Amino acid sequence: MSVTTKVGRNDPCPCGSGLKYKKCCFNRDKKNLDSLKTQYGQQYKIRFKQPADIEGIRQAGKLALAMLDIVEERIKPGITTDDINTWVHDYTIAHDAVPAPLNYRGFPKSVCVSVNEVICHGIPGKRVLKDGDIVNVDVTPILNGYYADTSKTFFVGTPSNDAVKIVAVARESLKRGMSMVKSGNTLGDVGWAIQDYAESQGCSVVREFVGHGVGFEFHEPPQILHYGRRGEGIMFLPGMVFTVEPMVNLGGRNLHILEDNWTAVTNDGSLSAQFEQTILVTEQGWESLTPFGL
Ligand code: MF3
Ligand code: CO
Ligand code: CO
Repeated sequence: MSVTTKVGRNDPCPCGSGLKYKKCCFNRDKKNLDSLKTQYGQQYKIRFKQPADIEGIRQAGKLALAMLDIVEERIKPGITTDDINTWVHDYTIAHDAVPAPLNYRGFPKSVCVSVNEVICHGIPGKRVLKDGDIVNVDVTPILNGYYADTSKTFFVGTPSNDAVKIVAVARESLKRGMSMVKSGNTLGDVGWAIQDYAESQGCSVVREFVGHGVGFEFHEPPQILHYGRRGEGIMFLPGMVFTVEPMVNLGGRNLHILEDNWTAVTNDGSLSAQFEQTILVTEQGWESLTPFGL
């Protein structure tokens, strides 16, 4: 079944009839796509986004990226992870937005700050950043009711060779995962691309945390696994919005959660890095609603 509307309405129909697409298979293809969306809504509870929703998420995404830019400018040895929380919290409020992490399932702060062997969900506090640390900062503002979720891993001062490596592999893992997103490809294609690349570099992919639908809520269906097999799972369809956010470890993939019930750390103490973007499936491929270069 064709699930793409990549062909222009006035282009020749791909079925080979010689007619214009709009005079031939266009309506049938559109019906197929609409019925598949209805099915995915009912079966998987996926909430497709309309153009006005997409614009709302895009604006939230702009705010999220502005916060990451501020963090990037100011992060340096001697600051605390709580300082980052203050910058993000105040900037969010000053722009009439709400920090989604704050009080989310009991999370006590406005941003996740994950240092070195912390994989994700680090709680800002008194920890002082030192030269050579790597720090993931994960922000999710809610603006006019719309959520955008994005993160980057920053160097503090001068990075070690290990730090340079794991950050580069995490960055490229997200890039390769995102490049598999297009209508008709499946979730498994993204997971496969990430796992195949990260493991080829001798690194490992965390399995306990996944990407997720986003926009109307913080975490919506479907889950986006960062490992898997090509062609597995459901298809991407235009109007889906979700995150891709692979967590990649320099050593093994196993983790444990600290006493605070949030902080996830590598079992072997090896470095972990992550980049995250909020992605829209378009008719042509994808668009990042939190776009930054990778
Ligand atoms: N931002 C994280 C994600 O990418 C979720 C953090 S949940 C929190 O999905 F409660 F820790 F903020
Ligand atoms: Co996320
Ligand atoms: Co996030």
